[in-house]
Amino acid sequence: MNSSSLSTEWWRDAVIYQVYPRSFADSDGDGTGDLPGIRSRLPYLRDLGVDAVWLSPFYASPQADGGYDVSDYRAVDPRYGTLDDARALITSAHELGLKIIADIVPNHSSDQHVWFQQALAEGPGSPMRSRYHFLPGRGENGEEPPNDWDSIFGGPAWTRVPDGDWYLHLFAPEQPDFNWNSPEVAAEFLDILRFWLDLGIDGFRIDVAHGLVKAEGLPSIGHADQLHLLGNDVMPFFDQDGVHEIYRTWRRVLADYPDRIFVAEAWTPTVARSANYVRPDELHQAFNFEYLDTAWDASALRKVIDSSLDAMRPVGAPATWVLSNHDVTRHATRFANPPGSGTQIRTPGDRELGLRRARAATLLMLALPGSAYAYQGEELGLPDVTDLPDEVRQDPSFHRASGQDGFRDGCRVPLPWTRSGSSYGFGDGDSWLPQPAEWGDLSVEAQTGVEGSTLELYRSAIAIRRDVPGLGAGDAVTWRDGAPAGVLWFERDGFACTVNTTKERVRITAPGRVLLSSSGPLPLTDGSADLPGDTTVWWEL
Ligand code: NOJ
Repeated sequence: MNSSSLSTEWWRDAVIYQVYPRSFADSDGDGTGDLPGIRSRLPYLRDLGVDAVWLSPFYASPQADGGYDVSDYRAVDPRYGTLDDARALITSAHELGLKIIADIVPNHSSDQHVWFQQALAEGPGSPMRSRYHFLPGRGENGEEPPNDWDSIFGGPAWTRVPDGDWYLHLFAPEQPDFNWNSPEVAAEFLDILRFWLDLGIDGFRIDVAHGLVKAEGLPSIGHADQLHLLGNDVMPFFDQDGVHEIYRTWRRVLADYPDRIFVAEAWTPTVARSANYVRPDELHQAFNFEYLDTAWDASALRKVIDSSLDAMRPVGAPATWVLSNHDVTRHATRFANPPGSGTQIRTPGDRELGLRRARAATLLMLALPGSAYAYQGEELGLPDVTDLPDEVRQDPSFHRASGQDGFRDGCRVPLPWTRSGSSYGFGDGDSWLPQPAEWGDLSVEAQTGVEGSTLELYRSAIAIRRDVPGLGAGDAVTWRDGAPAGVLWFERDGFACTVNTTKERVRITAPGRVLLSSSGPLPLTDGSADLPGDTTVWWEL
């Protein structure tokens, strides 16, 4: 670990690896990944060198949204195992020096949650209905939804129940939003936090952390452009100031549990507003989606790096960096497509270019001060699977958007562990989404020990990040003046990172000894180096 990791603030420069449990490793051959499967692969994650593992939800759930529809917050879904399996996973991780971060889903439950079922049964005006947002509709007979909000997954954010009331769901109808004005909701979540903390969980990633509080009176927006998650005005259902009081309460719980952390999934209009979530008495980290959404372009990258560091410095929180997760097209495929293609892409683009840029982008990310997130399979250079047949797709937003959006299954295809065999070592049977034929060549087995493979690049980069004092720590970078056009060049404490974002070779004066290059060996001639296109090089000064 870096020197700062020896302190209790291990998370400030941590590399955190996201596991999507359904797609990581299947121990019982039912086609779905599970907790014993993850446990069996922990040594792989230890060898990769990551500090912590964030698990997407594994709670009891009808799986209307891949587990982000929780029906029992204190139970493990039988598809994924048992509570004992969760305990064993946490214990084994700790023995290997890995932290485990769970996902908590406080904005909404499943419609199968006992509270929602009771609310339905008890009828309009009942106390159980006040735990969700049930309202009469507009119009003469209440036939219009209570306001004009759209669901993030398409269609209206309201569904009418047989007795005439409507309920709010910012996501799928199977995901009713909790009413956080209800003291029972607030108390319940404090108890759920303690339940998992007592079990040994090292932290929580908070799903839709920006959504819990809705504007007083649930006002209509009045225009159709509601669904952009970045760069918008504050919406009446997102990023309301009231959410911060909730997180202050949550933070106080951690006083009894040292070294545990909260990470906000908060889509806000600006990184400056994201910084509000990580003030000293609130959460520890917030995902940097603006960084994820930045094109492969030197000036755009420099701008977002500066604005991220500038936004976090006053509140004393580390910046975070992320390129891929289970909701967006994998970055190897994003960079293979023209800039501006978005994060739900259905075309493979130029795969070679995409992978080359993805590798370079990873070395840039891992050289920045703060905490970096890697999504399972990016260390194998996996592309998105863009040609999944419509009938196997399970993303609810795909179906609600009539197949025009919601291509998140493409980044959720189960991992290949071996060159061959059923589901390439994912499990003993088929996998819940079909894997492409090239998965065998991209498998862990095919890349292990192979010089230049993406897996070995990640292993080397994370190992160097641990070894080089101060790499990943701090809150600033120093840009080198006079870097050639299209080249990012920054230095810190005996280390330099040069990123050639252009397609052309660029000659630079070598600042020192090459530690690592994203595109293979880099010969130096007379103190000069030709940086190949779309390449990041790490230097020891
Ligand atoms: C964000 C999660 O990452 C995503 O997968 C999910 O669909 C929504 N929140 C709703 O819970």
